[in-house]
Amino acid sequence: MDTSRRNLLCGLGGLALGGAVAGLTAPAMAAVDPNAPAGRFSQVNGEFGWKPHKLDPAEVAMVAYDGYWYKGYACGYGVFYSIIGLMGEKYGAPYNQFPYAMLEANKGGISDWGTICGALYGAAAAYALFWGRKERTPMVNELYRWYEVTKLPIYNPGDKATGVKGALPQNSSGSVLCHISVSKWCYAHKIEATSKERSERCGRITADVATKAVEILNAKIDKGKDWKGTFAVQAAVAGCGECHQTKGNDANWAKGVMDCTPCHNGSKALADKFNNHP
Ligand code: HEC
Ligand code: HEC
Repeated sequence: MDTSRRNLLCGLGGLALGGAVAGLTAPAMAAVDPNAPAGRFSQVNGEFGWKPHKLDPAEVAMVAYDGYWYKGYACGYGVFYSIIGLMGEKYGAPYNQFPYAMLEANKGGISDWGTICGALYGAAAAYALFWGRKERTPMVNELYRWYEVTKLPIYNPGDKATGVKGALPQNSSGSVLCHISVSKWCYAHKIEATSKERSERCGRITADVATKAVEILNAKIDKGKDWKGTFAVQAAVAGCGECHQTKGNDANWAKGVMDCTPCHNGSKALADKFNNHP
C-alpha cells in the first residue's frame, strides 16, 4: 500500500474513532450530577479531567514533610496532599473534595508490605487526576528513574525537624520499592528500620519526591504534549529487555521497567539465607 493511502486510511480511522469516543464521553461528562446516583463507570468531572495548577516546589516540600508526620499518615499521603491538598487550599473544588486520607494506605509500601515506595505512588495518583496513561507514563518514568539513582534524602527541615534534627546519611536505592530503599539504607548506615531516624529519612524523602514530582508537573503544564523526560531507560532494562521484554522472543517473560540490577546481580545479599546464616 502506498504511504499516502495508508496515511489517509489511518487519518480517517483516527477521525472515526475520535468521533466515537467524543460521542460516548461528552454527554456522560455533562450529565454526571454529583448528588444523583451515578451511571455505570461515569465520573464527576470526567476521567483524568481535573485542571492541573502549577505549585511552588519549596512550599510543596514543606507541606509534604508535614503531611508525612500528620497523624502518622506518612509518605503517600504526604506527597499526594502536598499536590492535591495544596491545590484545594488555593483553588477549592474539586481538589478540596478529595478524601486525601485514603492515601494513608500507601504507608510502608502499602500497609507495611514494603512494595512500591508510597511517596512515588502518591505522585502517580496525583498525576492521574489530570493525565491519562499515555501522557502520564513518561512523567512517572521520569520521577521513578530519578528516585532509583538519586542519593536521598536531600531535604533538611532544620530546626523544624519532627523526628530527628541534623543531617542524615544519603544513598541511592537503585529501586522504587520501599523494602529495598529502606533496607539498603538501614544496613549501609546500621540504623534500625523501626527507628526515629528511619522515619525521619522517609519524611524527608517524602519532601524530595514531592519536590521532584511538582517540578515535573509544572514543566508538563508549561510544555503540554511537547514535555519530555530527561532520563534514558536503564541500561539493564534495555539490555535484559532485548530478550526478556521483546515480543516474539522465546524468553519474553519479564514484566516491568524497574531496574533489574538490585535483584538479579547475584550479590552477597541475594544469596541463600535459609542455610548457614546467622
Ligand atoms: C540474549 C538474550 C538474553 C539476554 C540479553 C538476557 N537473557 Fe536472561 N535468559 C535468556 C534465556 C534464553 C533464558 C532461559 C535460559 C534457560 O531456560 O535455561 C534466560 C533466563 C533468565 C532467567 C531465569 C533463569 C536463570 O538463569 O536465572 C533470569 C532470572 C534472567 N534470564 C534474567 C536476565 C537478566 C537480569 C538479564 C540482564 C542482565 C538477562 N536475563 C539478559 C536470554 C537472555
Ligand atoms: C525487585 C526485584 C526484581 C526486579 C527489579 C526484577 N526482578 Fe526479575 N525476578 C525477581 C524474582 C524474585 C523472580 C522470581 C525468581 C524465582 O522464580 O525464584 C524474578 C523472575 C524473573 C524472571 C523469570 C525467571 C524465573 O526463574 O522465575 C526473569 C526472566 C526476570 N525476572 C527478569 C528480570 C528482568 C529482565 C528485570 C528488569 C527488567 C527484572 N527481572 C527485574 C526479582 C526481580
